[in-house]
Amino acid sequence: MTDILEQLETRRNEARMGGGERRIAAQHSKGKLTARERLDVLLDEGSFEEYDMFVTHRCTDFGMEKTKIPGDGVVAGWGTINGRLVYVYAQDFTVLGGSLSETHAAKICKIMDMAMKNGAPVIGLNDSGGARIQEGVASLGGYADVFQKNVLASGVVPQISVIMGPCAGGAVYSPAMTDFIFMVRDTSYMFVTGPDVVKTVTNEIVTAEELGGAKTHTSKSSVADGAFDNDVDTLRQMRRFYDFLPLNNREKPPVRPFFDDPNREETSLNTLIPDNPNQPYDMHELVHKLADEGDFFEIQADYAKNILTGFIRMEGQTVGVVANQPLVLAGVLDINSSRKAARFVRFCDAFSIPILTLVDVPGFLPGTSQEYGGVIKHGAKLLYAYGEATVPKVTLITRKAYGGAYDVMASKHLRGDVNYAWPTAEIAVMGAKGAVEILYRSDLGDAEKIAAHTKEYETRFANPFVAAEKGFIDDVVHPSQTRKRLCRAFAMLRGKVLENPWKKHDNLPL
Ligand code: HXC
Repeated sequence: MTDILEQLETRRNEARMGGGERRIAAQHSKGKLTARERLDVLLDEGSFEEYDMFVTHRCTDFGMEKTKIPGDGVVAGWGTINGRLVYVYAQDFTVLGGSLSETHAAKICKIMDMAMKNGAPVIGLNDSGGARIQEGVASLGGYADVFQKNVLASGVVPQISVIMGPCAGGAVYSPAMTDFIFMVRDTSYMFVTGPDVVKTVTNEIVTAEELGGAKTHTSKSSVADGAFDNDVDTLRQMRRFYDFLPLNNREKPPVRPFFDDPNREETSLNTLIPDNPNQPYDMHELVHKLADEGDFFEIQADYAKNILTGFIRMEGQTVGVVANQPLVLAGVLDINSSRKAARFVRFCDAFSIPILTLVDVPGFLPGTSQEYGGVIKHGAKLLYAYGEATVPKVTLITRKAYGGAYDVMASKHLRGDVNYAWPTAEIAVMGAKGAVEILYRSDLGDAEKIAAHTKEYETRFANPFVAAEKGFIDDVVHPSQTRKRLCRAFAMLRGKVLENPWKKHDNLPL
């Protein structure tokens, strides 16, 4: 018996050493933690249960039968984050560059199956040289098995990818099909084809960082939802993020203890909206002042900054926030902001997260680049996402709600449950200047007449009352009391039941 126990311990230690001391030191010298060290930071202390620690690959080509390392380059299992179940896998770059073999893929698939059966999210820590070159098509098959699981798990359990090293070639498509991608600055990159291939094919000279680093993917491509400075910071932020999420699509998001009065009055909000309707203000201020303890986990903060998306809590319950940002492009809707917000709304709806929409939008951005880029189809994505969403939807119009953008931003007509406006709201087909230029074209040379028409239009439409008279706005609320009114609205909506007609699946304008 003692022998067997010793053998077990020896085999475990061998697996824990991964690719060996030299390669662990090389990993550390790049500022990166090893797979196991990463899981230690991500999970509650002592909660990790590892599976398939003794799995080895089955390849015999290129002398591979002599290079078998237990675990085969990925550490997989489950643990808890602040007491809640999570399935995890962490690719181990010290073992054959974290490359994906048939058995490595099978380990990932195994915990994904368990996650779906038992209803808990999957967090994948990616750090891999891609398909295990020695295994050829067996490795490609392994990737496809993972892709298929990603598709089936989508909308069933939240899937989060953290890119903590290389992620190149077809390997990028597993993270791409998960709900969120986060990256580590300077040590991670993602691209379909690397700088060398790019140079050969297109003659472009570009570094790996420029092509697929965290900055590129958080600000240019929108592939990544956020980036952090180093491994430890990233994994700590993942723990914070995890607390906002429900475990699966059958459960409601967690309600966590809160220490902030739901009736808290914010008198400063009475003066948030500037007197001049063309002067911007920072919508972040409103989001922070409405949130429990001012805690806002922003998603895609560096992309399409004319719209904000992210998670807050109200009375401890997770709420997804979508808010036009007047500080950037006057908060206009365009291709990028529509896509960004649509994807966020659909995640919230898939996982029963109520949505708060804060509206200050002058309309859709005009121009050939927008039209040629397909703003019609992209704008429709956001409209569609709001229209199909059955979760509680609470909307507050702070200032402008013009034209089609009024309809799109969770209006009453798209089954908004509670639609509020501040007294400063202006709900109209367009701003006064544009409207007068169209309606009174013949008076355009007469400044006095134009001023009178503008005044008349503003009196009639630059307020929330026309919409309120029609019941499109449920109430005009005092800015300082907004937190209280929104908390009460979400509390009232906790039992909401609404179903869409049966369909195999929808056909959203992709
Ligand atoms: C097998 C690999 C490997 C791979 C790296 N290694 N990638 N082994 N298959 N794909 C091994 C190396 O031989 C080395 O082994 C160790 O991992 C570390 O690699 P280094 O090159 O020393 O590390 P580094 O200099 O940091 O460079 C990392 C790297 C580079 C940029 C990822 O290794 C690289 O270019 N690898 C190949 C990438 C690639 O072309 N992959 C296939 C992509 S196509 P030793 O024993 O020396 O420690 C793909 C298709 C997926 O993935 C399709 C899905 C549909």
